[in-house]
Amino acid sequence: MMKQSQAPLWEYLDRRRQEEHVWLHVPAHGGGTGLPPEVREAFGSYARFDLTELPGCDDLFHPTGIIAAAQQLAAELWQAEATYFLAGGASAGVRAMLAAVCNPGDDVLVGRNAHKSLADALVFTGAVPRYLAAESRDGLLLNVTPQAVREGLRRHPRAKALFLTSPSYNGVAADLAAIAEIAREAGVFLLVDEAHGAHFKFASELPQPAGLFCDMCVQSWHKTLGALTPGAVLHCHSSRVDRRRLQDALQAVQTTSPPYPLLASLDAVRRRMALQGEKVVREMLAQARKLRRVLAAHFPLLAAEDMARLGFSLDETRITIMTARAGVDGLELGSLLAACKIEVEFMQPHAVLAIVGPGYKPDWTERVAACLQDMPPVREKNMRLPPLPALPPARYTPREAWFLPSALAALPDAAGLVAAAPLVCYPPGIPLVFPGEEITSAVVEYLLAARKAGVAVHGMDEQEQVRVIAEV
Ligand SMILES: Cc1ncc(COP(=O)(O)O)c(C=O)c1O
Repeated sequence: MMKQSQAPLWEYLDRRRQEEHVWLHVPAHGGGTGLPPEVREAFGSYARFDLTELPGCDDLFHPTGIIAAAQQLAAELWQAEATYFLAGGASAGVRAMLAAVCNPGDDVLVGRNAHKSLADALVFTGAVPRYLAAESRDGLLLNVTPQAVREGLRRHPRAKALFLTSPSYNGVAADLAAIAEIAREAGVFLLVDEAHGAHFKFASELPQPAGLFCDMCVQSWHKTLGALTPGAVLHCHSSRVDRRRLQDALQAVQTTSPPYPLLASLDAVRRRMALQGEKVVREMLAQARKLRRVLAAHFPLLAAEDMARLGFSLDETRITIMTARAGVDGLELGSLLAACKIEVEFMQPHAVLAIVGPGYKPDWTERVAACLQDMPPVREKNMRLPPLPALPPARYTPREAWFLPSALAALPDAAGLVAAAPLVCYPPGIPLVFPGEEITSAVVEYLLAARKAGVAVHGMDEQEQVRVIAEV
């Protein structure tokens, strides 16, 4: 039996990279020698790990060797029935999770703080989304309440699954304990996008991990634990899930040539978390609290107490500066920080998000403090975007919308038309409009204001045109 102090995948590849092999196989760079010199110079040691399904290397989609052992160790650490490494990020996991349990036409309740990868999952599966509005404050989407779930299930009693995003991008976690109880009574699968919460199980001050409550969840280890981008995992916590179907779905949504360096980084990250996870996360929290104090001297922050009043819990390593509340422009604050070579996770007119991960260096707090000290006053302009639009009426399912003929329409003229593609402020990557939904005048107003303020909008081109279902 393997121990958590071992890292079978990492150890095998690390040993192998020190041997000289004749490469009569892909990848064609032959261990680095075939790379352009500048790439070899930068990524030479990475290339030594960049292998394919050779004898001994195992196979991500039919694992029996080192990948199976590495996944098993991850499952044991996260107390899952099975864990699957994802070479396509949490995005791939979201698609696979839904495809594993939903047939075309099945209702799925969806918390409306979902990432845009869910839109593709809905097209792929043909499941019918029944959206649950998320609570919001100061233009930020937070999370879904147990009451909203209960009401959603009352309206859609045949729902097969409940899909939640917890924590939200800003680290706001739903009351999963209460929601799981409701889901259990209703007999629906509870699927959680925990992309931003893989570290939760290592500190009691953090929100409770989704794995305690859900049937399946995905975690982006590159977002939280220090794996290579886009290393992520899917944990299956329930014997109700058809594993064969899940494995088929995982294969359907990912490359057939998974990158071994990324998989090896997942294995090494799991080992570090097994051996030192509490220390790593304690340090992240300690650093985040110091940074919070520095930032709070200048700006209001999204606070745990406020979230608790709404029934949510907050991950303090996600620090949201509420610039709208301070009456200043978050995009300008982000640029002023970038001028000090301080890069934040996202900046929007109304909020700026900073993330503290395991790579945070303690002296960065002083850099931030010094930058804020010397910073010219941030433009005192009311950069509040219009209120977040209410959920638009759904005219088609995302899958129907995908296959219908579409055309481009100028956004100002698109009110009342139906979106053929998601409309998403990026970041945070949460669709305001899912495919098949009506583009309401509130959506038009919001997106025009967002674009004018300098926010990137996916689904809208340079000429402010959006793709809509063509009128027949
Ligand atoms: C909530 C959420 N889920 C899923 C994803 C997709 O994650 P990945 O980049 O690992 O594919 C993101 C990315 O930002 C996200 O914020």
